[in-house]
Amino acid sequence: MSFKGKHIWITGASTGIGRALAKKLDADGALVSVSARSEDKLNSLVSEGQNIRAFPVDVTDVSMMNAAIDMIADRAPIDFVVLGAGAWTIMDSDQMDMAPIRTGMEVNYFGTLNAVDKLIPMMKTRGVGHIAIIASVAGYRGLPRSIAYSPTKAALINLAEILKVELEPHNIGVSIVNPGFVDTPLTQDNPFPMPGLMSADEAAEALYKGLAKRKFEISFPFGFTLVMKMLRVAPNWLYLFVMRRIRASI
Ligand SMILES: NC(=O)c1ccc[n+]([C@@H]2O[C@H](COP(=O)([O-])OP(=O)(O)OC[C@H]3O[C@@H](n4cnc5c(N)ncnc54)[C@H](OP(=O)(O)O)[C@@H]3O)[C@@H](O)[C@H]2O)c1
Repeated sequence: MSFKGKHIWITGASTGIGRALAKKLDADGALVSVSARSEDKLNSLVSEGQNIRAFPVDVTDVSMMNAAIDMIADRAPIDFVVLGAGAWTIMDSDQMDMAPIRTGMEVNYFGTLNAVDKLIPMMKTRGVGHIAIIASVAGYRGLPRSIAYSPTKAALINLAEILKVELEPHNIGVSIVNPGFVDTPLTQDNPFPMPGLMSADEAAEALYKGLAKRKFEISFPFGFTLVMKMLRVAPNWLYLFVMRRIRASI
C-alpha cells in the first residue's frame, strides 16, 4: 500500500525514528504533520520536505494536545497516527528518582493516551483510521536499569492489545511498534553495548513497511527482537537467570 495522499500525524518527529519516518512518508507523497516540543527542529524538517507541516506540542499538556489535534485535523482528516514521543532515563532501583519516573509515564503512556482519547471519536465518526503506538521490546518484560522506562512500554503494549480488539468493529486499525536498539538521541548516552543497533533510517524503513501492511505488531530488527520474544515467553527461572547475568554486565 502507498501512503500517497494520506494524512499522517507523527509525534516525536523532531529527531530519531519519527523524523526519519516523516521524511520517508513525505517522499511517498503523503501529507505529513509532525509534532514534538522543539519547534526549531520541526521547522528544519518542514524545510527539507514537500508536504510536511509542523504542529509543536508537549504531549503531556492535554489542552495543548486537543488544540493541536484540532488544527491537524483541519488540515485534512487524519488517516494514520504514529505516536512516538518518548522519554528514556537509565535508572537503578537502588537510586530511584521519582521525577524522571513520573516524566517517563507522563510522556510515554499518558502522552499517548492524550492523543488516543481525542482521536478515537474523530476516527469513529469517519469510520476509518489507523493508530500506531511506539512501545519497545523493553516492554515485553522488566529489564534491568529500566525502572523509568520498561513499565511505561509494558503499559503501551497492553493498551494496544485492548484498543486493537475494541476498535476493530469501527474499522480503526491499531499497530504496536516494538523496536530493539536504534541509534538516535534517545540512546546516544547509553553506557552499555546495544546488540543489533540499527540506524534511524533503517528503523523508519521497517516501520513504514509494517504500517503499509497494517500489521498489528511491528518489531525490528528481526534477530534481536526474536531473542526478546523468546525471553518474553520463557519461564521465570530462565528469564531471571538471563537478566541477572545481564545486570551483572551493564
Ligand atoms: N532508540 C531506541 O533504541 C528505541 C528503542 C525502542 C523504542 N524506542 C522508542 O521510539 C520512540 C522514538 O524514539 P527515538 O529513538 O527516535 O528517540 P528520540 O530521537 O529521542 O525521539 C524522541 C522524540 O520524542 C519527543 N518528545 C519527548 N518528550 C516529548 C514531549 N513531552 N512532548 C512531545 N514530544 C516529546 C522528542 O522531541 P522534543 O524533545 O523536541 O519534544 C523527540 O522528537 C520513543 O517512543 C522511544 O521510546 C526507541
